[in-house]
Amino acid sequence: MALSVLGIACSPRRNGNTTRLLLEGMKIAQTEGHRTELVFLSDLRMNPCLGCGACSAEGVCVIKDDIPKLQEKLTNVDRLILAAPIYFMGVNAQTKIMIDRMQTFWARKYLLNQTLVRPSGPERSGIFISTAGTQLPNLFDCAERSVKTFFHMLDIKYAQSCLYSNVDKAGDIEKSQSSFIEVREAAQALLIP
Ligand SMILES: Cc1cc2nc3c(=O)[nH]c(=O)nc-3n(C[C@H](O)[C@H](O)[C@H](O)COP(=O)(O)O)c2cc1C
Repeated sequence: MALSVLGIACSPRRNGNTTRLLLEGMKIAQTEGHRTELVFLSDLRMNPCLGCGACSAEGVCVIKDDIPKLQEKLTNVDRLILAAPIYFMGVNAQTKIMIDRMQTFWARKYLLNQTLVRPSGPERSGIFISTAGTQLPNLFDCAERSVKTFFHMLDIKYAQSCLYSNVDKAGDIEKSQSSFIEVREAAQALLIP
């Protein structure tokens, strides 16, 4: 069964480490005949959540930018691969802006008791890919927690993390072929219907 697979490249470095890994995962999805779409957050007009609470009334955000279109994709997709770098021990700003804007979904789900995704169809699931320049302890903890909350908000099962430390300059990840193998395997597992 062909699944719809959305890849979100969150790094501002188009040819950076996380995007290279993401492309590897997306290649698997393509070769297996799934419907794939790749979004670069750096291409989107995105503004941070204002915390105005307007979405609490009708589940609609007052900010007019590209986020509603992305939300539509996120509600319809079967599989998600999110790739984001670590900045200051958490996800980078672009990723966090996107995640915070899911407050609209929080309002729809918990305040307005609305169903976010279509009731039928396969269970939705996703993986999180990240890289960081150092090898500090607990490097990915904050990012993982935010991303897990994001997935939960979207009713997407958090299937796996693929996390790589000591990867700094754009392209450094190429020295770690095992990371590409791991991402390929994670993508293959993700695509089992
Ligand atoms: C603004 C900024 C903050 C960063 N903060 C951290 C950090 O807190 N810890 C860390 O290990 N690496 C940090 N890094 C390094 C990146 O995580 C690393 O270069 C990563 O591989 C970038 O992924 P990308 O190539 O996909 O953009 C930071 C890099 C930048 C530009």
